Amino acid sequence: MIDRIRIIGIGMGDPLQVTGEAARALGTVDVFLVADKGDAKSDLVAARQAVCEALIPADHAYRVVEVPDPRRGPDAERDDTAYDRGVRDWHAARVDAYADVMESLRDGETTVGFLVWGDPAFYDSTIRVVDALVQRWAAKGLDVDLDVIAGISAPQLLAARHRIPLNRIGAPIHVTTGRRLVDEYDPALGDVVVMLDGQLACAELADAFPDIELYWGAYLGTPDELLVHGRLADVVDEVRRLRAEARERHGWVMDTYLLRPPVGAAESSGPSGFPDTEPLGDGVVTVRPVTAADWEVVRDEHNNEESLRWDFAGRPHTDERARRLAAQARREWRLGRAARFVIVDAATGQGAGVINVMRMGPPGLGLIGYGVLPAFRGRGFTTRALRLVSRWAFDEAGIDRLELGHKADNVASGRAAAKAGFSPEGRLRQRLPNPDGTRSDEIYYALVRGDAHDRTPPTG
Ligand SMILES: C[S@@+](CC[C@H](N)C(=O)[O-])C[C@H]1O[C@@H](n2cnc3c(N)ncnc32)[C@H](O)[C@@H]1O
Repeated sequence: MIDRIRIIGIGMGDPLQVTGEAARALGTVDVFLVADKGDAKSDLVAARQAVCEALIPADHAYRVVEVPDPRRGPDAERDDTAYDRGVRDWHAARVDAYADVMESLRDGETTVGFLVWGDPAFYDSTIRVVDALVQRWAAKGLDVDLDVIAGISAPQLLAARHRIPLNRIGAPIHVTTGRRLVDEYDPALGDVVVMLDGQLACAELADAFPDIELYWGAYLGTPDELLVHGRLADVVDEVRRLRAEARERHGWVMDTYLLRPPVGAAESSGPSGFPDTEPLGDGVVTVRPVTAADWEVVRDEHNNEESLRWDFAGRPHTDERARRLAAQARREWRLGRAARFVIVDAATGQGAGVINVMRMGPPGLGLIGYGVLPAFRGRGFTTRALRLVSRWAFDEAGIDRLELGHKADNVASGRAAAKAGFSPEGRLRQRLPNPDGTRSDEIYYALVRGDAHDRTPPTG
């Protein structure tokens, strides 16, 4: 009866690339279950058998059971939801197929092994499928031990063969699939590793990003290994040709590649970030960039009767949402999307509200939003914060025109804006949604660089 399942990463098929730990584990398995994916990939099954023969001691008896892999639909034609459902159904069918085999083990067979191509952590479902099996047995009162042994993955071997690290110093690596690449590509991602790419999706990026460096590798770790490195626009046709020839010869292509944008491409691809700032103060009010620790101010500024009344949806923030908004503020600042400040009561150090400058529309434009907690209303905090942030926006952040708007009935908001020097510019009809499904007119204000206020020192 089964009491242990071992999921063993066996690298890219060469017995020399199986780790010592994996080699030792192989010698403890009684029955290996191998998914039989049909003729096209039978050389993969053969490679697994070769690994077993090379590394399992001659006196250890084991058998290999090929389990026909359930058929999976035509992934390329599916949208993401259908793809997800297809993969889930396929997993469920695999769980059933493996359970059938494991429930009919012979006497003395207690350890089942799964040989995973590369490393089980990279685009491989074995751990998920086996987890489902283990849970199924646990529900019947049968405890099955599970362990996972790492292997050398395709991205690791790709990097080794090209003699490169996968990341630039201290920078992240984005690993994705061919079907997602074009949708999500942005040089700001930095180094991108692409797997499971039946169509050579990077070819679609070659015109837009010709200078990306491509490090491509196919059949890595096998005698048929192919490597290409060069500027994407220069080498993409060669890679396309090599893939077509290889597919003709083997019936399948296994390739992995790294896309490395030229140095500086990330910075030039988006709006530049807002400049760092020290706290800005006028003696009564201080404004400083929001940090994750300010999440309660973010929540409380929103979750009060008055704010929710003017909100579009009228829904309070959960603590989780407030924490997320506060935690993401640094990133938005760095990307130049929004400069979010917390308004602090200088006398007590307490958070009194928030004020944000969002970059949107034509260059040099900032859209302001603000709100003060009920306990601090009526003390001129909004006007003071608006003055401090406007001056910073014009002097430090390259903003030339600041805009803000409020629902027509929210006169207090308009008063604070006018006191801070903003001029009304008009009424935009039915612009802002209300929680009850109706819409309100918006009164729009602006302050432009050079308006009198931003030269006047802040007062009450
Ligand atoms: C189902 S995933 C398995 C990945 C595997 N677990 C690993 O650690 O690399 C299959 C993908 O891995 C990559 N791959 C697997 N074997 C490869 C090889 N010998 N050479 C290049 N890429 C390979 C390809 O991107 C392929 O589409």
